[in-house]
Amino acid sequence: MKLLEKLKIGDLELKNRLVMAPMTRSRANAQGEVNNLIVKYYVQRASAGLIITEAVNISEQAIGSPLTPGLYTREQITSWKKVTDAVHEANGLIFAQLWHTGRVGHSIDKKGVLPVSASAIAIEGQTHFTSQGPKEYETPRELTTEEVKQIIQDYKQAAINAKEAGFDGVELHSAFGYLPNQFLVDGANKRNDEFGGSIENRSRFVLEIMNALVEVFGKDKAGIKLSPSIPYNGMIDSDPTALFSYLISELNKLPLAYIQLMQPMFPIDAFPTWPKDVLTTFGHLFDKTIIVNGGYDQQKGEQELENNRAHLVSYGSAFIANPDLPKRFELNAELNTPDRNTMYGGGEKGFTDYPFLEQ
Ligand SMILES: Cc1cc2nc3c(=O)[nH]c(=O)nc-3n(C[C@H](O)[C@H](O)[C@H](O)COP(=O)(O)O)c2cc1C
Repeated sequence: MKLLEKLKIGDLELKNRLVMAPMTRSRANAQGEVNNLIVKYYVQRASAGLIITEAVNISEQAIGSPLTPGLYTREQITSWKKVTDAVHEANGLIFAQLWHTGRVGHSIDKKGVLPVSASAIAIEGQTHFTSQGPKEYETPRELTTEEVKQIIQDYKQAAINAKEAGFDGVELHSAFGYLPNQFLVDGANKRNDEFGGSIENRSRFVLEIMNALVEVFGKDKAGIKLSPSIPYNGMIDSDPTALFSYLISELNKLPLAYIQLMQPMFPIDAFPTWPKDVLTTFGHLFDKTIIVNGGYDQQKGEQELENNRAHLVSYGSAFIANPDLPKRFELNAELNTPDRNTMYGGGEKGFTDYPFLEQ
């Protein structure tokens, strides 16, 4: 089975081709520090070829949801060190996913401060889950050019902190409508400076961040997650094929570890020109490692590898419910079903209590 074959990314040796997709679990403390239960959760899943952590806030401004971890205080860095040490001890590899939520947040959970974004455009037709229940999105404050440059520095500092915390690399969360994605799409970015307007300008924020991450971590240690055909969180672009073709071609010039591409996953009938299969549309533009994600099972994942369309497959909810997913694939064993009610927040239940196969 290709999924169980090794893969080298630079000097990192992945023991199989299953990646644990980044998943927010909202179990950090109010200061954004991770605890021993979170250490246990990641160690349980260390048989993945690579773990990508839940999204991690790069600054206080980046926070969009309560109880999500950070990598910008000394205590947060120290708390993550316990995770990386334990995962390495268990022979695993772990990247930190770096997160700035931009407009996907609410002042209720930001000490009364309005969320920021590329432009002052609110998400419509969705509500945000806050500590006081679901709320309408507010119109964010448009960032100044100076502030945009500062946020690129915040990403860089978070990468420095991730390195100190012992991570093997970092991934930029540039998917699913968060801040980098807000800069990319013309439905959310109406800026007049060098970060808005043309495709080149709208891609600048992401490319400058990726350059900064490479500067910190070096070759083959920085990845990026993209979701070109996902309209969630108001990510409407007039021409995603042109936008992401340019972006991915530029990313291909950098010594990145990988790009992680999400398949559509949401109905896109309203957007007939949007790519229906991200690998068909964009795969040929990137000649390094490609991780494919979104709705894959063992058989579909195996097929993508066999057809040389991707090098790795990332599994989200399957890894929540099956800490020993590679073993289950190997033995063709039955899978546990993820419980939707315990995905975000809480303690052990639905987090570290999913059963392993009998030894
Ligand atoms: C509980 C949960 C939390 C998630 N949080 C994140 C996140 O923090 N960052 C991210 O990039 N994707 C996040 N995702 C999306 C997953 O990484 C993945 O793209 C998605 O689940 C599709 O993969 P799957 O079909 O294998 O589950 C989350 C998904 C779930 C189920």
